[in-house]
Amino acid sequence: MKPRVLVTRHVYRAALDRLAPHADVEYVDQREVLTEDELAARLADKDAVLCQLTDRITARVLDAAPRLRIVANIAVGYDNVDVAAATERGVLVSNTPGVLTETTADFTFALLLAAARRVVEADGFVRAGRWRCWEIDLLCGTDVHGKTLGIVGMGRIGRAVAARARGFGMRLLHANRRPVEVPGSTRVALDELLARADFVSLHVPAEPGAPPLIGARELALMQRTAILVNTARGAIVDEQALVDALRAGRIAGAALDVFAHEPHVPETLLGMPNVVLAPHLGSATVETRTRMATMAADNMVACLRGERPPNLVDERAFARRRP
Ligand code: GLV
Repeated sequence: MKPRVLVTRHVYRAALDRLAPHADVEYVDQREVLTEDELAARLADKDAVLCQLTDRITARVLDAAPRLRIVANIAVGYDNVDVAAATERGVLVSNTPGVLTETTADFTFALLLAAARRVVEADGFVRAGRWRCWEIDLLCGTDVHGKTLGIVGMGRIGRAVAARARGFGMRLLHANRRPVEVPGSTRVALDELLARADFVSLHVPAEPGAPPLIGARELALMQRTAILVNTARGAIVDEQALVDALRAGRIAGAALDVFAHEPHVPETLLGMPNVVLAPHLGSATVETRTRMATMAADNMVACLRGERPPNLVDERAFARRRP
C-alpha cells in the first residue's frame, strides 16, 4: 500500500505530479485554510503532509497524527510549525530555502523603491484623474542612491538585498547575531544600525514566542526620515508600536509585506499614504512558487522512501524518525 499524504490547500500541479507515483494523495483543492480541528481530523491516517505557511501544525495537530513522518512546508520560514513538538514525536519538518532568495530580494527592493519614490501614491494620483500639470514639487520622494541601507539579518536573503543595494550605489550596514563578512557592508550593533540607516530592511526569521525584535524603543532610535521595510515576518515588529511611530511621524514611512496576524492589517495603516502594503508576496512569482512547491514535494518523497530529505529544519529529528 502506498503511503497516504495530505495536501492542505490549492497548490501548483507540478508538486502533485511529483507526489503521485509515490503516494495516495488527499488533495484539499481549496483556497480556504483548514482549521486546527480539520487538520487534525484529516491527518489521523496520513504519513505525510504538504502544507503552507497558513497551516498551523501545532502539538495538538501532531498528537492527532500518530503515523505522520514529515511536515513538508512550502516556505523557507517555519514559524507555523511547532518544530520542537515535531522532533520530540519523531516527525521530520522540511522547508524550502534557497529557491526564493533572489525573488524575495527583488520584491524587497520593489517595496523599498515604491516607498522612497511614492510609486503607489503616484499611480493612485494618475488613476484618480488628479494630474493637471507637471509641478516642481509634485509627489517628490527621497533618493535611494547614496543613502544608507541597514540590513537586519544577513542570511541568504539579506545578502541578496545587499547585492541589489550595491548596484543602486547605497551604503550598507548590517546587524547579525553571528559575525558575517559581506562585501561593502559594515557589521554594527542593531541600535547603531537603526540610528544610522535611511532604510532599514528586516531579514530575520520569527522565533515563536520571542518578543518582537523591533518595538517602540527600536523605532525611537530610527531617524525621522527613515523608512522601514519588512518582507520577513510580521511578528518581528511590534505592530502597534509601528502604527504609533508612523502616526507620530517618528519615522517617515514603511513598506510592509508581512503582518502580525495575517490577513489582518491594522486599520490605521490603510489610510497612510506613506505606507506601502502588500499581501505577503515576497516569493510570489510563478517560477519561484512552483519551485518551492516541487522542492517541498521532493523533501516529502525522500522521507517516504526512507532517505534523508535535503532540507530538514531540525537535523536531529532524522535520528528519531518514525519507521
Ligand atoms: C515566505 O514567507 C516563506 O517563508 O517562504
